[in-house]
Amino acid sequence: MNKDKLIETVARLVAPPKGVLAIDESTNSCNKRFEKLGVPQTEEKRREYRELLITAPDVEKYLSGYILFDETIRQSTKNGKNFTTVLQEKGIDIGIKVDQGLVDFPNHGGEKITQGLEGLKERLQEYKNMGATFAKWRTAYQIGENIPSEDCIKESAVIFAKYALVCQELGIVPFVEPEVLFDGEHSIEKCYEVTAHNLDIIFTELNKMGVFIPGIILKTNMVLAGKENKEKSSPEDVARMTIKCLTEHVPGFIGGIVFLSGGQDVEDAMINLNTMHHSGLLTWPLTFSYSRAIQNPVLENWAKNPEDIATAQALLLAAAKNNSEASIGQYKK
Ligand code: 13P
Repeated sequence: MNKDKLIETVARLVAPPKGVLAIDESTNSCNKRFEKLGVPQTEEKRREYRELLITAPDVEKYLSGYILFDETIRQSTKNGKNFTTVLQEKGIDIGIKVDQGLVDFPNHGGEKITQGLEGLKERLQEYKNMGATFAKWRTAYQIGENIPSEDCIKESAVIFAKYALVCQELGIVPFVEPEVLFDGEHSIEKCYEVTAHNLDIIFTELNKMGVFIPGIILKTNMVLAGKENKEKSSPEDVARMTIKCLTEHVPGFIGGIVFLSGGQDVEDAMINLNTMHHSGLLTWPLTFSYSRAIQNPVLENWAKNPEDIATAQALLLAAAKNNSEASIGQYKK
């Protein structure tokens, strides 16, 4: 394992004031978003949309990496330039989603597990040859009565460790993404409890399997009350509880921590991150890796005005800039 190379990649990805943009929605997820906005669900439309995200001028000032989906990493601009080349020329690291989505966890009514370990090494090698320097694997946990179960948490942690090790052996930085879902009525305390326990189990398994912790990036949810809870968590509570959770349950020597937005409002995701950077000295680099909280305004505008690429790209640049400022505690509404 080339530890120095992993550390270098991590350092580029979380170097302030930058964050990572996730545009790795599966074909299915992307189509669902298109459908809601009346965009035709074709490969060409997905390519066109991703082209505007990838070619947006100046985003490299605020974005260190883009996470792509299998379809996207193979695509090119309408002028025939590979997306990967466009990103490399901007000095943006190429990431790739390598999990193959959630499936039912047998005998655990309603719980999910992530699949995709089979053939992972071969797929990663191919992506590496295409220029990928980091990867992502996501598991989602719904909070509910007696879930997530201990079995599900444990099994998912073992899978994360196996995935992370394969990545690191190939010199690819693994994003480990355990997402405690925002959906639900749960309290912020419950979210804390589940997130903290889950992180404990994950790091136990990563350590057991010999994963090099400074050479991974944790992509996590913020600690906050569920979307359907009557009481919305304040930025101060989110910042305090999230930082406490990460400080107490993530090794201080991890390469970096980034957040998913999880369906939070665009503004909330920024303010929450910004507030965390006012909570004193943090042990690890802490930034964003949002999809919806950056893309939503862009996609909505483009869906209405598909010819107006410049406005869509200006919206992307503005969202990236605002989040970049939030990642160093300098965002002002
Ligand atoms: P959201 O920011 O929309 O939660 O997406 C992040 C992500 O990468 C989900 O896997």
